[in-house]
Amino acid sequence: MAHSDIGLIGLAVMGQNLALNIADHGFPISVYNRTASKTEEFVAANPATPGKLTGCKTMAEFAASLKKPRKAIILVKAGAPTDAVIDELTKVFEPGDIIIDGGNANWNDTIRREKELKAKGFRFVGSGVSGGEEGARFGPSLMPGGDFSSWQEIEPIWKAVAAKVDAKTGAELKGAKPGKPVTGGVPCAAYIGENGAGHYVKMVHNGIEYGDMQMICEAYDILKGTLGLSAREIGDIFAEWNTGILNSFLVEISAEVLRQNDPVTGKAFVDIVLDTAGNKGTGLWTSVSALDSGVAAPTIAEAVFARYISAIKEERVAASKILQGPAKTAYTGDKKALIDAVRDALYCSKICSYAQGFQLMDAAQKKYGWKLNFGEIAQIFRGGCIIRAGFLQKITEAYARDPRLANLLLDPYFTETVQKAQANWRKVIALAVTEGVPVPTLGSALAYYDSYRTAVLPQNLLQGQRDYFGAHTYERVDAPRGKFFHIDWLHPQRPQLDA
Ligand code: 6PG
Repeated sequence: MAHSDIGLIGLAVMGQNLALNIADHGFPISVYNRTASKTEEFVAANPATPGKLTGCKTMAEFAASLKKPRKAIILVKAGAPTDAVIDELTKVFEPGDIIIDGGNANWNDTIRREKELKAKGFRFVGSGVSGGEEGARFGPSLMPGGDFSSWQEIEPIWKAVAAKVDAKTGAELKGAKPGKPVTGGVPCAAYIGENGAGHYVKMVHNGIEYGDMQMICEAYDILKGTLGLSAREIGDIFAEWNTGILNSFLVEISAEVLRQNDPVTGKAFVDIVLDTAGNKGTGLWTSVSALDSGVAAPTIAEAVFARYISAIKEERVAASKILQGPAKTAYTGDKKALIDAVRDALYCSKICSYAQGFQLMDAAQKKYGWKLNFGEIAQIFRGGCIIRAGFLQKITEAYARDPRLANLLLDPYFTETVQKAQANWRKVIALAVTEGVPVPTLGSALAYYDSYRTAVLPQNLLQGQRDYFGAHTYERVDAPRGKFFHIDWLHPQRPQLDA
């Protein structure tokens, strides 16, 4: 029997599509699913893939079907189900074989699994896979981390199946069809770093995704709440934005969603969708990691909180009958100018949100000893994944200018862009506040910008408060950093300002 180059476990939507993508590139692949009938149906439905699909009924059969060193991608639910599959694999694999987790694993689990598997002689890769169903099928963005020798083994497959972007412009090369993959271009797949680095970067991708989605929702809400535009009208505006600096997958699909009619009532689809958002936890992990690392990522965290507050629908409905907002006023200004201002507010906020995400990755690389290549990470995000956007090219260029850039806002392109657009950004936030339209992410991004560019923040007073009630000490403006002082607040003779 000819052996497969690689195997895949877990034939849910992502697994099936990734398996077909791998087979399309001519790599024979074995597939296994806990429910054997699913494996049979999948293989039967795809009889003529360029790389042979081999369905396996048992783990032992699966292991026996793979070329050595064996390589297996796990695409099952993160957490306990992943551990269970790893456990089964270790019973049928041999030392030196490679286990790859392609799910949305928490990076701490990936670090633990790598350590445990290494002790048993197995090699482990935690690979972020982004792009949903279509990405998995025709070109995902791939963020592999872990054992480097394993990366060298899987690199040809990863680079073949990943999305491709133009080397100069960063534009995604599209048009892959079943059996006819895109060739040429730079693959959106590169080794990220040791142990949990790939899954960490994928998690931050998701945190940024949460921010992007919520910021777009707020732009929609402002246009709806202040100009009274319909879903379709806002969809048209978003479609127009998608041709400019805001060009991105998420703006594109938001336009489509807004222009969609409900098949049952014929109303705008979004008007019949309940306004309560779910989540699977990656935005939460990103925010917790920011808090743990002492990195300010308020826009990403606000995006998570926005989902949480959306979820308490009944409570909000009850509160809406008690708590008053400002009286609604008809917008009398220039409508077109306001639409442009909302676009600018969205772009500036997006820059701040990405600045936070990249700062978070920077803190993580210092903590874990990874060597992250931010320009390359932005390029991996450029195609295939959910946050793919033209603007990521600007981030790659910024890190090419300065690989040690402390904050994206300090890159000349971003400094100048925000400088030019900030009057519009402020106008939009002020309007939203006056009109009572909630803007947690757009507003927090502006607060982040204003905090970051402020040389003297009011934390002088805060340190005074801490010193007063808890003797937490303070540093002085006229003493070296790291030298701490305390005032004996309870002493009656402590120095006072002159009356
Ligand atoms: C991707 C997505 C994908 C998924 C997230 C978000 O990169 O392909 O990020 O991983 O959509 O898990 O899910 P929630 O919004 O449900 O948390």
